[in-house]
Amino acid sequence: MDHFELRNGVLHAEDIPLPQIAEEIGTPVYVYSRATLERHAQVFADALKDIPKKHIAFAIKCNPNLGVLRVLARQGYGADVVSGGELERALAAGMAAEDIVFSGVGKTRAELALGLDRGIGQFNIEHEPEGVALSEIAVGKETTARAVLRVNPDVDAGTHAKISTGKAENKFGVGIDAAPAIFDRLSALPGLTMRGVALHIGSQLTSLDPLEAAFERVGRLVADLRAAGHSITHVDLGGGLGVPYRPDDNPPTPAEYGAMVARVTKDWDVTLMFEPGRVIAGNTGVLLTEVLWVKPGAANPFVIVDAAMNDLARPALYDAYHDFVAVRPTGEKMTASIVGPVCETGDTFARDRVIDKVEAGDLAVFRTAGAYGATMASTYNSRSLVPEVLVDGGRYITVADRIAAGTIMAAERVPDWIE
Ligand code: LLP
Repeated sequence: MDHFELRNGVLHAEDIPLPQIAEEIGTPVYVYSRATLERHAQVFADALKDIPKKHIAFAIKCNPNLGVLRVLARQGYGADVVSGGELERALAAGMAAEDIVFSGVGKTRAELALGLDRGIGQFNIEHEPEGVALSEIAVGKETTARAVLRVNPDVDAGTHAKISTGKAENKFGVGIDAAPAIFDRLSALPGLTMRGVALHIGSQLTSLDPLEAAFERVGRLVADLRAAGHSITHVDLGGGLGVPYRPDDNPPTPAEYGAMVARVTKDWDVTLMFEPGRVIAGNTGVLLTEVLWVKPGAANPFVIVDAAMNDLARPALYDAYHDFVAVRPTGEKMTASIVGPVCETGDTFARDRVIDKVEAGDLAVFRTAGAYGATMASTYNSRSLVPEVLVDGGRYITVADRIAAGTIMAAERVPDWIE
């Protein structure tokens, strides 16, 4: 459920009519609903009610906007971060250092040191040399890092290949068979408290089966590690729960996910950690755009909108589907391809899709754009960096400014030795 609804024939974000935002801020612009964000955060937390010890770290890569993070911090969420930049953002948004988990396959020594300096709660180590480096840096700082070992359970998540992370051929984690020996060696190092294991098998999962298979493998690993004398107090189950992008999509609900987790992990006696991203933020945002032109095409017309692949990259990158609806729908439909102004055929949001009938000057939105939307935007084609707005009931504020092409250009220089 979200708070983007038609009222008197006009699409609103909570109590704000979207044409008002288009008028005052311009398009394209991302619009987030605070009530939707809070509801999703609450629904996910409620789904874990049967799990006695838990910690939820929002995967901030999917929406690192400070305003969004502040809302989640107030809901008691911590952060899963994958860079020094994300780490600083989580802290700036008011998340407590001990509630921050540092994931990522290519952390630099400087980033590991930053995590120690800031006193974060947990490092998710992706391979043995990273653990050795963390130990050395921690000893140098006379401190101790709390860490878990990320394992690769070798299961097929059944999602798009570019966002699958838990197959043996993927770059993430250590092979689950190699994990016990690596865990033994890392546990013996100074400056490191190895307290458990982590996994994350992929994103936009539409079945619980691969997750359950992976969790069962990790459960056996936990038993093996304990049998070898290790104290295992934490298991990080990652994120990955999918959201409905198409009107008839039916991914597992957070409640179904929570029930499966509670069943599979009931004897583990650990603090379970979760890193949800998309399921929290996906349906809390839309990308508001204006139709520039409707141009005849060979079969169907092209609806050319002022948003492009630089603003919402998912369709171009993963052939992702984002629902497209008119802000003032007439009830009439048309079959069209929806494209942006960028000079690539890949700048296509939909091919030959039945959509609300629109004309030049009309407003429309791409739905389910709150996760992996603005955060993946670029300025390709010297376009502006897309702004973001947060709505709260009858008020809204720009939580990220549009960064004009001229501002980007001002950070460049022409060497005088070219002359
Ligand atoms: N934890 C780790 C270690 C991750 O790598 C990810 C996502 C998450 C948690 C959160 O996963 P979620 O709950 O959002 O599925 N740009 C792609 C998605 C990339 C996901 C990367 N990792 C997209 O637009 O579909």
